[in-house]
Amino acid sequence: MTHRRPIAWGILGTGMIARKLAAAIAESPSATLAAVGSRNLESARRFAREFGGERAFGSYDEVLRCDAVEAVYIALPNQLHAEWAMRAAALRRHVLCEKPLAVNRIEAERVIAAARSARVFLMEAFMYRCHPQTERLVQVIRDGDIGEVRLIQATFTFKLGPRDDIRLQNAAAGGGIMDVGCYPLSMARLIAGAARGNPFQNPTDITGTAHIGERSRVDELATASAKFPGGCLAALACGIRVASEHTLRIWGSAGHIVVPQPWIPPQKDARILVQREGQSTPTELLVDAPASLYAIEIERVADAIRTGDLEARSPCMSWADTLGNMAGLDAWRAAVGLTFDCERRTGS
Ligand SMILES: NC(=O)c1ccc[n+]([C@@H]2O[C@H](COP(=O)([O-])OP(=O)(O)OC[C@H]3O[C@@H](n4cnc5c(N)ncnc54)[C@H](OP(=O)(O)O)[C@@H]3O)[C@@H](O)[C@H]2O)c1
Repeated sequence: MTHRRPIAWGILGTGMIARKLAAAIAESPSATLAAVGSRNLESARRFAREFGGERAFGSYDEVLRCDAVEAVYIALPNQLHAEWAMRAAALRRHVLCEKPLAVNRIEAERVIAAARSARVFLMEAFMYRCHPQTERLVQVIRDGDIGEVRLIQATFTFKLGPRDDIRLQNAAAGGGIMDVGCYPLSMARLIAGAARGNPFQNPTDITGTAHIGERSRVDELATASAKFPGGCLAALACGIRVASEHTLRIWGSAGHIVVPQPWIPPQKDARILVQREGQSTPTELLVDAPASLYAIEIERVADAIRTGDLEARSPCMSWADTLGNMAGLDAWRAAVGLTFDCERRTGS
């Protein structure tokens, strides 16, 4: 992948994931870090020094208004995604926004409408969708290697440390469903779609249960069952208070697939194990990526911007895919009785 001119990025926020993307930008031949913005100028300056950023600002707005910035990466708490994505689009900046794109589907529709009308690129940053492991998995399902897909089991949990975290705040639209549940849900939709020759498939029904923290007022552990057209079911789990396995399992009429690292695949030897009925051992498919996980995402965005595609192509997140996932998150939250303060205020 070579590009005529690197994309000049501006980053909003200097937190954990902003650091990962900045490292990926430094690694990528198709990107430069033109500016970083923080609520705290000193934090932006430190960040720029560490990652070779050309400018540091004490506000997010200055990044958007900086003429040198072509695309912005929004690495802010969930309740701020829609606002800053729409502000960026209004100033004709391309947008890579952290997941989930917005607090709910209605907000996500507004963000997409803003990108469409400004004619800027917009993608929800589901990095695992950009990794070739995901592409290969979709191909295996489409080829019918395990027959008809009947059951998808996907989990993403981790254990937060004692620190005060945006994930433990209702006001920040936190909780496990929004932070990590969006991955298993998006994967189940991707696989159920691939099984029927579509880029994705939305479930017809989602039920769920959760432990809602008394202090956090968000889900700290949650499960969901999803039903897809054609009879495929998904069992999903997510959480921010316990670390469990991340393995993805897909069971079909003629075999099953195990993906040991579905969300954060390694650059070399990402493994997909395909066990066909009657085989004594699984076939191991090994997938290498041309760069590290977040650098691939940066490359995919650069490719789309350069070719004038406003939407990412499947299996990366298209706008319709994002809206389907947001609707699924809304349904999962409704099933466990989780509303965010910002939704009560705005009535959306
Ligand atoms: N794709 C992935 O692999 C991945 C992984 C982790 C997280 N994420 C997503 O990335 C986003 C940020 O997560 P993170 O883990 O990077 O969080 P974080 O470490 O807490 O960073 C969030 C940043 O947002 C800014 N911010 C603005 N208003 C804030 C407020 N009221 N409270 C706290 N911070 C505020 C802060 O930057 P300044 O102080 O510099 O303004 C802060 O450093 C979330 O939407 C999350 O879902 C994605």
